[in-house]
Amino acid sequence: MPSISATAPAKVILLGEHAVVYNQPAIAFPVPNVRARVAILANPPGKPGHVEITSRQVQLQTSLDVLPPEHAFQRLFTAFQRETGLKQLPAMQVTISSEIPVAAGMGSGAAVSVAMLKALGLFVGIKFSNAQLAAMAYEAEKAYHGNPSGIDNTVIACEKPVYYKKNEPITFLTLPSDFNLLIAYSGIPAQTIATVNAVRAKMEQSPVQTGAIIEQIGTLVRQARVYVEAGDVASLGRACTQNQSLLMQLGVSTPKLEYLVNAAINAGALGAKLTGGGGGGNILALVNPEIQVKVMDALYQAGAERVFPATVRKTADYE
Ligand code: MEV
Repeated sequence: MPSISATAPAKVILLGEHAVVYNQPAIAFPVPNVRARVAILANPPGKPGHVEITSRQVQLQTSLDVLPPEHAFQRLFTAFQRETGLKQLPAMQVTISSEIPVAAGMGSGAAVSVAMLKALGLFVGIKFSNAQLAAMAYEAEKAYHGNPSGIDNTVIACEKPVYYKKNEPITFLTLPSDFNLLIAYSGIPAQTIATVNAVRAKMEQSPVQTGAIIEQIGTLVRQARVYVEAGDVASLGRACTQNQSLLMQLGVSTPKLEYLVNAAINAGALGAKLTGGGGGGNILALVNPEIQVKVMDALYQAGAERVFPATVRKTADYE
């Protein structure tokens, strides 16, 4: 029996992570060449409602009903059934295969959620809007992040560059030129929830000082939006590097991330910073195409475990 499948991209936060949790804006890009894929195969002899889920990447093989109610997949299926009004799911086998590194700040959890929702929709004959996908995936994000801002599920569901502020309508950014990024994995997995909690603790201990850093990140993001929309990559690169020093002050960077950031800048990147939750995971470097290979080599030399080139295409190319 043929299976139904769907995919969703990884994401990078260009600027504004952590501050976005405190109602500041952030800018995020989808990474279309690095994707999560979910395939669903009907299992007619299976008991109605029986869902078997497999992911080789995280060595998971389970049936849905043994997972606790707060598990991301339980939350996702509950949101799906609420949205569709389906009382009983048909028996099915769900297979997840993802190229997105887990616990690395590239939105692997949100991408799996969106791909799964798209596949489930196809399976039962419903095409969800991006807003529906984002809202349902947000329910699973709560299991990963505790109190997520909603930026990951939004940029991944919409698959467009976004300027995002919590509880405000999404603004899609118009890119007049391509942006060339390198995303380098430090080899150190990090749970976003840990750094989000650490920032919250810092906020409680020293609200004035921490609040000022968050405000400065917000100011930088508003400025960076102008650079993105003007295609001013040089100024954008500088803003990324400034954002990195604010993230350092916030306590979410690490010596390895700093080392990678410096290696990228010394090799000619226009700017570099950690991306996502920090504490490990990935850095991004903004590069001109002619310097890309040199920066990539420098990142590997500096100990990056994997470097993904990612080109975010100008708006006219995907509209
Ligand atoms: C995670 O990709 C980004 C954070 O800002 C958390 C969030 O926005 O929920 C660290």
